[in-house]
Amino acid sequence: MTSINEQLTQNFQDALVKSFGEDFKDIDPQVTTARDLRHGDYQANIALPLAKKLGKNPREIAGIIIENLSLDEVCEAPTIGGPGFINLKIKPSYLQNELTLLYNNPHLGIEKVKDSGGVIVDFSSPNIAKEMHVGHLRSTIIGDCISRILEFRGYEVLRLNHVGDWGTQFGMLITYLKEVYPDALTKANALDIGDLVNFYKQAKKRFDEDSYFQEAAREAVVKLQSGDQESRHAWQLLCDQSRREFQVIYDRLNIKLEERGESFYNPFLEDVIKGLEQQGILEKNQGAQCVFLEGFTNKSGDPLPLIVQKSDRGYNYATTDLAALRYRIQEDKVKRIIYVTDSGQSNHFAQVFQVAKKANFLPDTVEVTHVPFGLVKGENGKKLKTRSGETIKLKDLLDEAINYARNDLENRLQSEDRKESEEFINQVSEIVGISAVKYADLSQNRISDYIFSYDKMLALQGNTAPYMLYAYARIQSISREGNIDYENLGEDIKIILEDDTEIDLGKYLLQLNDTIKEVEKTLLPNRLCDYLYELSKKFNRFYENCPVLKSDEPIKTSRLLLCNLTARTLKLGLSLLGISVLERM
Ligand code: ARG
Repeated sequence: MTSINEQLTQNFQDALVKSFGEDFKDIDPQVTTARDLRHGDYQANIALPLAKKLGKNPREIAGIIIENLSLDEVCEAPTIGGPGFINLKIKPSYLQNELTLLYNNPHLGIEKVKDSGGVIVDFSSPNIAKEMHVGHLRSTIIGDCISRILEFRGYEVLRLNHVGDWGTQFGMLITYLKEVYPDALTKANALDIGDLVNFYKQAKKRFDEDSYFQEAAREAVVKLQSGDQESRHAWQLLCDQSRREFQVIYDRLNIKLEERGESFYNPFLEDVIKGLEQQGILEKNQGAQCVFLEGFTNKSGDPLPLIVQKSDRGYNYATTDLAALRYRIQEDKVKRIIYVTDSGQSNHFAQVFQVAKKANFLPDTVEVTHVPFGLVKGENGKKLKTRSGETIKLKDLLDEAINYARNDLENRLQSEDRKESEEFINQVSEIVGISAVKYADLSQNRISDYIFSYDKMLALQGNTAPYMLYAYARIQSISREGNIDYENLGEDIKIILEDDTEIDLGKYLLQLNDTIKEVEKTLLPNRLCDYLYELSKKFNRFYENCPVLKSDEPIKTSRLLLCNLTARTLKLGLSLLGISVLERM
């Protein structure tokens, strides 16, 4: 469905051609929602820059454009504001029609893309045998949301988990594994090492203390890399254990990912080096193979190299990313690759992309984007830690959020004198707790650091998951109270807008499409959260001002339609954030 903004934009583009000729065909008329709602609903700002270009008075230019607009069906007569803004007020009759169309549209007006080509979203990507920390949680939540939005828009999305499952640390881990579980490799049953992070710490301790152990670990790396059966088996056991632990978290978050770890690209690493060599951009620097970069210099201003093969001939993180990039373009044949990691890796990706371009690995038809995000901090503004100063385990973090949610719920039930089953309490706390964690993360501009606070994320008021879930549940309670089936409000539906709060809500419901397109462009999920928050507020204002069940027909049905449309919009919007709604809470 064409949104009002798109419709106005098209109309202005036609008017620009009529006013000034074909040369003005592709100019963006700069239509936005009005900054000051007293003057209208939308405004077009094009007269100002255009006047400058044409050496004329902007109000005069605005006047000429207005004469050539044919918006009678859509807007009241446009007015010129301030130095030359064109103000547009949408006619209620037009809104009513558009809302009816929206109501009947199963995708709520969001168009599907055609022949889009595939997209890879590379996200989550924890490291085997190391902590899956809050940074990975952020990547997981943001990456999932971006994937959901692109999927809904009709892109074929490959959700890749680029787990860190290769590297010299495996020499140490395998050696330690053989030491503490000597028969692990011969037993058929899957090994349960327990807490793998702890295992890693102990292995590291052994490594640091004992030079024989160090030597054995180094030999183990060489054996693993040369494909030795037993070493591969031990490595596999360690990966399996980690995988099981990660999967618990993904299941609880209801997030799907396809694992394709760093090790997958091992067979292609040598070829990356060859490719760079063929392009004549590979240089030896202090024994290492490098590509020198533009725009990256060290403290004394000398150009920095990207190392792709260390002096011991080993490959590194960057080599793997170059191989992955090639594979994704050549074999997966995707047109867009999105990487979701903390902003600490911005330079890494800028460098990899630059080298890939230089090496002709990355054609102009493929778009690569790094989606960076800030740190997660505790309420004291420092790194998030437990009270005793340890890193927080993700499992504990989610449990805690659910506990908080349960507490809040039990208090609420008591104060409302309600009795609910244990099953209800479990289900609501689980959904509210997990949703709160996700929403708190997504509602922040991802670039900034974010302060993790259970109290804030679970508050019933403000831009939080519970507020949004509550608005949805409230709408469902209206239908229960009035014995209404939202799915059957009649064949020939008609939305009538009378009250100001009703018009306001109606207009806003029509902006979902624009919002989704904006998130798709900027990859900023907080824009969608802002929209849903604003929508819930507008709905609550409408609900306070306009009786629904107590109104007479045809207003009653019209208002029920608005209620249901709001609920559907919230449900869809939240589902794109990875949050499921509750009919009752
Ligand atoms: N494993 C990495 C980390 O924990 C993130 C990997 C991101 N993806 C990539 N293609 N480099 O920092």
